[in-house]
Amino acid sequence: MSLPRRGRKYMIAMVGLPARGKTFTARKLTGYLSWLGYATRSFNVGERRRQVLGPGQDHAFFDPANLDANVQREALTDDTLDDAFLWLQQEGRIAIFDATNGTRERRSKIRERCAREDVDLLFVELFEDDPKVIEDNVRETKVSSPDYVGSDTATALRDFRARIAHYESVYRTLTDEDGCFVRIEGRGRTVVIHEVHGWVPGRVVLFLSNLQVTRRPIWLTRHGESEFNQAGRIGGDSPLSPRGLAYARTLAEHVGAQSEDLPDLDVWTSTLQRTLQTAAPVCEAMALESGDWKALDEIDSGVCDGMTYEEIAERHPDEFRARGDDKLRYRYPGGESYQDVIQRLDRVIVELERYRTPVLVVAHRAVLRALYGYFVQLPPERVPHVDMPLHTIIELTPTAYGCRQEWRELAMPEA
Ligand code: F6P
Repeated sequence: MSLPRRGRKYMIAMVGLPARGKTFTARKLTGYLSWLGYATRSFNVGERRRQVLGPGQDHAFFDPANLDANVQREALTDDTLDDAFLWLQQEGRIAIFDATNGTRERRSKIRERCAREDVDLLFVELFEDDPKVIEDNVRETKVSSPDYVGSDTATALRDFRARIAHYESVYRTLTDEDGCFVRIEGRGRTVVIHEVHGWVPGRVVLFLSNLQVTRRPIWLTRHGESEFNQAGRIGGDSPLSPRGLAYARTLAEHVGAQSEDLPDLDVWTSTLQRTLQTAAPVCEAMALESGDWKALDEIDSGVCDGMTYEEIAERHPDEFRARGDDKLRYRYPGGESYQDVIQRLDRVIVELERYRTPVLVVAHRAVLRALYGYFVQLPPERVPHVDMPLHTIIELTPTAYGCRQEWRELAMPEA
């Protein structure tokens, strides 16, 4: 499936008091939609304020009674919105407007502008009233914000709480009058959807209602060396070579050594025997069953399946050249492109985001490039070129700020 190059344009406007996770969510959503192939960018009013005024504003700047500051804040918000619309008029497909947007007036302004510019609008409200969750958010993200460089923690906390109180005094939650919206309450416990229609807003809602911030490792590894790998042939469904079987045992030892920290490990494979054989010793050692996903099968190389790259160059020189020219979009005749692979991995990503427990994914080169590209937010063009060696395990730990990664080539016993 190729994405239509043209189509509706979208404005996703975040709504929420400070410390509700808007910027984290906007960043994740930007990564997800870009990965799916939509040109997406986030526009953050706080960043613009710091660029224009420097980081020194204390809570008084956010007091609605401070009229001079109000004028400045309104101008910063309008300018950021202008940038977002300019980008949508040019190459952008989806703009994410990352601001509090907590008043009806502000939201009407956004709605009117979207109607004028023929852009579809979706509000995303993050609603949280558990004081403990808010306090944890403030401590984890705000105290280290550039706004508080040089302040001690107690001062930063006091000031930020006062800032939240200013916003609370004028904040209005979304109502039916706001049109198309999704409100995520209590970190996904309740999701309210209003007038959400169409593919892109539907993806956004599904993605956001599954998004978690729990820190836990996701391990990615290719299957052990297969007979086709040995022969330099692509695709197929060949079994593991003796080296590949040795890797499967080494992987089981590696994972088993950490089993005490992994009480709820899940192991996911494709439906192809090389991944099932690789996962088998891990599952045996840890007394668990793997789950196989058709969506994790290797890129379908169509008429080239089972050939070496030299054979493809010789028998299908035009195809070989076309793939070299645009590896992301090139689709093998009768097979798939990397973009197709990304589309079918969408459901795997939504599940990985939903899981709060560790997952080991045993899959294939192209598939793992696509999954890895999502987590580290690679530009889609770079995804097909990531080096993804055999017999290596990648540990990814998604955090509030991005994704920690550790690559380890597993030492194999001498043959
Ligand atoms: O060679 C192993 C393999 O997994 C093939 O089955 C697959 O077609 C290929 O790698 C994907 O890599 P590339 O997109 O670089 O050809």
